Amino acid sequence: MTRLALFIGLLPSLSLVFAHDKTVPTAQDLGVPTTWREFNNSRLLAERISIAKSAIDTILPQLDMSNSQFDGIGFWQSAKVFSSMANFDHLASSTVYKDQVINGLTAAHETYRNFDPNGYNDDAMWWATASYYAYRAYGDSTMLSMAVAIWTRVSNYVVSVADAKAGKQPNKDFTIAGTCYGGDVFWHPTSDDTGINSITTGLSAYLTETTGDSTYTAAATLSAQWIQNLQISSSGIVLDSVSSADCTLTATSWLFTYNSGKYIEGSSVLKDVTGAAIWKSLMTNITAAAVKSPVWQGSNGIITEGASKTLDNDGVGFKAIFIRGLDEVSVCSADNSALQIVIHSYNDVQYNALLELAANGTSYSPSWPGPAQEFTTWGQMAVLDVMVTAINTNSL
Ligand SMILES: *[C@@H]1O[C@H](CO)[C@@H](O)[C@H](O)[C@H]1NC(C)=O
Ligand SMILES: *[C@@H]1O[C@H](CO)[C@@H](O)[C@H](O)[C@H]1NC(C)=O
Ligand SMILES: *[C@@H]1O[C@H](CO)[C@@H](O)[C@H](O)[C@H]1NC(C)=O
Repeated sequence: MTRLALFIGLLPSLSLVFAHDKTVPTAQDLGVPTTWREFNNSRLLAERISIAKSAIDTILPQLDMSNSQFDGIGFWQSAKVFSSMANFDHLASSTVYKDQVINGLTAAHETYRNFDPNGYNDDAMWWATASYYAYRAYGDSTMLSMAVAIWTRVSNYVVSVADAKAGKQPNKDFTIAGTCYGGDVFWHPTSDDTGINSITTGLSAYLTETTGDSTYTAAATLSAQWIQNLQISSSGIVLDSVSSADCTLTATSWLFTYNSGKYIEGSSVLKDVTGAAIWKSLMTNITAAAVKSPVWQGSNGIITEGASKTLDNDGVGFKAIFIRGLDEVSVCSADNSALQIVIHSYNDVQYNALLELAANGTSYSPSWPGPAQEFTTWGQMAVLDVMVTAINTNSL
């Protein structure tokens, strides 16, 4: 069972696209709210690297080398841990986890055909994205080939503009409501499943950047446009999913950090490879809205999503994906210091909360506002992106 498996049953029947408010908020306020808790950080680089490494080392005993899964978390979440390890090395300019990451991803690819044992295209994409990060960190071309192969397979489940016009998709056996599509990706490969979600997009932008192949640019642009046109809430954050049979959107209360996180990550790359001003503008606006959304945090700014202390859940991983996306935006935004400042301040809020309110030695509670508790694999998995991002977003 993967995240949001319940969503189909919760779809509201009447939120048709025509009734949907597509307005992106015009106020692009990049100021740091003074209500945020402790939004600065004076730890030096070596200490931040050490804190991140200790957090990763604390989860590694849960790794089952035979299939690359971490005991206590779900399939997609294990890919997240490898992503954090690769991104640690990328940002710390080291190769501490190189063998574990490459061997782990290779073993998972061998064990789980197409990185998809459960029939979820997004599972395949999380692992493919981890493979891309491994390529980026270590320059290992096999990792890039794996990412490309998975992307190519999942692209069989994209709704093209032609499919949308025709009302049918070659791998689906129902009529799709073509009016609102093109560039979107089916969540499940099964021929009768109508669900489409935002997070199954995003890898194309990296492949464009890396290979220069215009196939990926076209795909990334189309997906970005799909989300721009259909999947942004009236408060400026990215929505979760739609049903392709009748074009129903998910409820506006069905909001998760990671949809915005994936989108800003993809657009941060797309803006640079295409030079199109729209992606920079949208990336900036969504970032500004998402870091201040009251949906997943209080006025102190500490994210509360997926904070269960007793059960692994998908939401605990969402917030980590969001943080990772913010880091990529920061990296690509040297020309916008206000944006970089709000991102490092936001991550420092999470970082300081974890270190001061939620830490038990080098393990951290899934509840970022605390209190500390015993180690859980899901809690530890979720904090890795905060720790790794702090290496990067603070400048000392
Ligand atoms: C982003 O916000 C600014 C105003 O703050 C607005 O002018 C611009 O159109 C917005 N960009 C997009 C893509 O909606
Ligand atoms: C934030 O800045 C203040 C003033 O420079 C400093 O005393 C404090 O230690 C900083 N907080 C953290 C967590 O680094
Ligand atoms: C810290 O972790 C240890 C070992 O898992 C556990 O026994 C202890 O209760 C935890 N402390 C808190 C404050 O939860």
